[in-house]
Amino acid sequence: MKRDKSNASTPSEVTAVAVPAKKREKGVKFIKTQVTPVEPCDEKAMLEVQHLTKCFGDLKVLDDISTKIYPGEKVSIIGPSGGGKSTFLRCLNVLEDPTDGYVFFDGKNLSNLKVDINVERRRMGMVFQQFNLFNNMNVLKNITLVPVYVGLKELRKVKRKNLFIGFCNLFRKAGDKKPLLPVERTKKQIKEEAEANAMRLLARIGLSDKAQAYPSTLSGGQRQRIAIVRALAMNPEVMLFDEPTSALDPEMVGEVLSLIKELADEGMTMVIVTHEMGFAREVSTRVLFIADGKITEEGTPQELFGNPRTERLKDFFSKVL
Ligand SMILES: Nc1ncnc2c1ncn2[C@@H]1O[C@H](COP(=O)(O)OP(=O)(O)OP(=O)(O)O)[C@@H](O)[C@H]1O
Ligand SMILES: [Mg+2]
Repeated sequence: MKRDKSNASTPSEVTAVAVPAKKREKGVKFIKTQVTPVEPCDEKAMLEVQHLTKCFGDLKVLDDISTKIYPGEKVSIIGPSGGGKSTFLRCLNVLEDPTDGYVFFDGKNLSNLKVDINVERRRMGMVFQQFNLFNNMNVLKNITLVPVYVGLKELRKVKRKNLFIGFCNLFRKAGDKKPLLPVERTKKQIKEEAEANAMRLLARIGLSDKAQAYPSTLSGGQRQRIAIVRALAMNPEVMLFDEPTSALDPEMVGEVLSLIKELADEGMTMVIVTHEMGFAREVSTRVLFIADGKITEEGTPQELFGNPRTERLKDFFSKVL
């Protein structure tokens, strides 16, 4: 059994929010018949990957990968094209279901169908190479879309519950009546707060004047910075970047990297797939070299760049550095 998931062009992936997780089938505990037994997870890790294997048909893209990412870490993933970097990143928020193995986020096994994947995904911001902004919406709408959607969904949930409590109260004695849940924000307030937050984020990246502009009228660098603040609008606890600069003209790479670096300096936990070796060296606390579906080598940037141990990594550096 698989969770419902989206492809790159749908709102679900872009926002990593709106995908309705399928209900758990009777007797099915995990999304797949994973054969590897679950091991106890490290409670201190924000993300923990246990024996992750991913196959597309006969092609084994990830082969028994295990690693942990702790709060505040900035992990860069480097490696040859086709080595499985994007697939690994997509498995972290279950945009791809693992064929075997498990991903834990904040102690929760994301393969367990009892876990509401949409709620967990809201806590992970994802930024793609191709920005994935909605071209039919202006910048402000792009940024507020998900916070408003989630806010209204929660409001509807509270109202539904209150309706039920109110109905049950009709049959309760005067002293036994249950209080209604507080409705913290009205529809209007939800929208206004999301817009104020979006404007604050736009001001931060110096693009306040582009709030009403459509993505097609912006430069690649501007679009990618907006895609980043759109992810930030959900106050994520970890940011996943998949080659955020590789679709940009060289002169725009700097502005996007400096925004990511700013976030890193503020302590945001990050996983960044990148071909920018200088950036990986400067910003990361740890670098993973993924090749042939395995973490072939990992360590601090000084260790990996200064003293690569494996022939595979030496060969890779000889081509990219
Ligand atoms: N949805 C899919 N269906 C079938 N094969 C896929 C799918 N996604 C990825 N693959 C294959 O898995 C392998 C790894 O792909 P992936 O995109 O993870 O590589 P990558 O390391 O990110 O490469 P690049 O640096 O070029 O982005 C490739 O051979 C790719 O063709
Ligand atoms: Mg990739």
